[in-house]
Amino acid sequence: MARYSLALLAAAALVRAEPYCPVKRDEPTGTGAWAAAYSSAAAAVARLSQQDKINIVTGVGWDKGPCVGNTSPVSSIGYPQLCLQDGPLGIRFGTGITAFTPGVQAASTWDVELIRQRGQYLGAEARGCGIHVLLGPVAGALGKIPHGGRNWEGFGSDPYLAGIAMAETIEGIQSQGVQACAKHYIVNEQEVNRETMSSNVDDRTMHEIYLWPFADAVHSNVASFMCSYNKINGTWACESDSAQNGLLKKELGFRGYILSDWNAQHTTVGSANSGMDMTMPGSDYHGNNRLWGPLLNNAVNAGQVPRQRLDDMVTRILAAWYLLGQDKGYPPINIRANVAGNHKENTRAVARDGTVLLRNEGKILPLASPRRIALVGSAAVVNPRGMNACPDRGCNEGALGMGWGSGSVNYPYFVAPYDALRERAQRDGSQISLHASDSTNGVQGVVQGADVAIVCITANSGEGYITVEGHPGDRNHLDPWHNGNQLVQAVAAANKNTIVVVHSTGPIILETILNTPGVRAVVWAGLPSNENGNALVDVLYGLTNPSGKLVYTIAKRPEDYGVSIVRGNDDFREGIFVDYRWFDQNKIEPRFEFGFGLSYTNYSYSALAITSNVRAGPATGQTIPGGPADLWETVATVTAQVTNTGGVAGAEVAQLYLSFPSSAPSTPPRQLRGFAKLKLQPGQSGTATFNLRKRDLAYWDTGRQQWVVPTGRFVVSVGASSRDIRLTGNIDV
Ligand code: BGC
Repeated sequence: MARYSLALLAAAALVRAEPYCPVKRDEPTGTGAWAAAYSSAAAAVARLSQQDKINIVTGVGWDKGPCVGNTSPVSSIGYPQLCLQDGPLGIRFGTGITAFTPGVQAASTWDVELIRQRGQYLGAEARGCGIHVLLGPVAGALGKIPHGGRNWEGFGSDPYLAGIAMAETIEGIQSQGVQACAKHYIVNEQEVNRETMSSNVDDRTMHEIYLWPFADAVHSNVASFMCSYNKINGTWACESDSAQNGLLKKELGFRGYILSDWNAQHTTVGSANSGMDMTMPGSDYHGNNRLWGPLLNNAVNAGQVPRQRLDDMVTRILAAWYLLGQDKGYPPINIRANVAGNHKENTRAVARDGTVLLRNEGKILPLASPRRIALVGSAAVVNPRGMNACPDRGCNEGALGMGWGSGSVNYPYFVAPYDALRERAQRDGSQISLHASDSTNGVQGVVQGADVAIVCITANSGEGYITVEGHPGDRNHLDPWHNGNQLVQAVAAANKNTIVVVHSTGPIILETILNTPGVRAVVWAGLPSNENGNALVDVLYGLTNPSGKLVYTIAKRPEDYGVSIVRGNDDFREGIFVDYRWFDQNKIEPRFEFGFGLSYTNYSYSALAITSNVRAGPATGQTIPGGPADLWETVATVTAQVTNTGGVAGAEVAQLYLSFPSSAPSTPPRQLRGFAKLKLQPGQSGTATFNLRKRDLAYWDTGRQQWVVPTGRFVVSVGASSRDIRLTGNIDV
């Protein structure tokens, strides 16, 4: 019993020990931090020549500076060569850094303290390397298509959860004086044809699903946005007046700047006048074809781009720089600085607490000192060619910790399942035998007679500039790679205590595995970065009680998702019914629903209490960063008691879902609108408190072009997942 509480206490102490100074979330536009930054920026802009201004908005060209993106310094105002560097889980190409867990794993913890700490550490490392702009976090792809190659860079398929994680991460990064960059804006949901396709999305879906987490980013005063590769309703994202000027700058009151994804810009004048503020990297990948630089200068001189627009671009960029205090004593650029400190503790905690237990038949877990352990799978060991053998992690050899692409980093070290299990076995005096291959040949001899057989399988994906084993970024299918199903079948045929460990960038279809007799446990280990093996041992041996919950639905069949990678344009026909919203609306039973996860203990829910002063009608407040101010005000509070009724300590993620009254136009049966993670000793009760903001009870009224709280009865559902509802109540409006 003590094993659990010690681990949990250690984690709590770790979180509390870290001071942070969050940027205030609800500062009205024009006051506070941005106002001061804007006046400094205006004073600086007045001293700049037109050439200085062009230099500030134009990247110096691909591969021409220390970072993946660089602009020119302007010495007259003490402005440095700006360094923009990937990415969302750490410092790409860094050598003295931490390989943080991918966003999807952080979200799976549902632990805002760990998510925020991850952001703070990311910011601290970026600052230590002299990086001004860290290119993350990611809310697009949101993950509407389970095959989507880059879903793992973001925070799961629910906009509310992604929004909270965006806010915590951005505030964490920016608390260290580093500019965060919310990307990829917007509706960039797949890799195949990402640079040619149009995402055709209706206004309501845009607001309620895709824009939602980006609104959180703006509300957290994010310094910059990255416009994406795709077209939006027929217009390139970086040329989209409605997405950039309309939604982002006007409606959401975004005061920072928009930079292009690398070569996502298509015209000189169109991008400038539609709201893009900085071009990256400033040339194509061969060093040619600068669309700004001298061409923007000509366009300004010819009156095609107003001078005020150029000034606005520069003001926004400088204001962000002042906002983060980067004008004073910022460290010099050194991507190879040693900045890791003790940050791997966050990686391990997130890897561990983001692990989701899906099946535990006959309580085979936690392991009770097995004497003979068999470990199977190529993913049980570090890539034999070297942990960083594949550039940008573009292969699926050995243990999996992150997907591939610009959102990856070099691992500073790697603890694979075998490394950690062997150490544990040695300590316990147990025997461990290894079959480090995905071939079924000879595997039965290894697992026969062992007390448990642990099989590691994977599914991987990444960014489309690398194709791995025929997968062009996006996955071609939702099966485990390397014939994982057959491997599990072969193992379980010879050992009736088989434990399947899945490392994956997103959902896989588990039916074959679950229907295989002898598969007693399934551990969804997700993407644990280089703490892979340590986190697994923590969970398998009960050093921690698993507390992760799924941040996407695991379906019974790929067709059940109702979406797949498209070859032409994507018409987003599913509309607002993304992930669990689709399954609920269409009455499709998932295998494991959104929000699901088992524990080694049990929790009961009681005493739902609701207070509300919400009133029907539109949000009409003054625009602050994030939209009308009243959208962000708490209008109802829901509390519930959660009690640990089992014999071991643990942590439960209580979730709140809202069902809208019928006066609102067709709305998903349930939408996540709150969650709270409670750490509870055996017998202990805690209070889950959910503060509902006006936006949480509003839908986007396309006729009025406003967020509107409908009249009627909202049903409040509180429970352990999106389908395991324990308590219900009402809010009458
Ligand atoms: C990716 C961005 C990344 C940029 C710079 C692009 O291919 O889409 O996420 O920040 O490259 O590496």
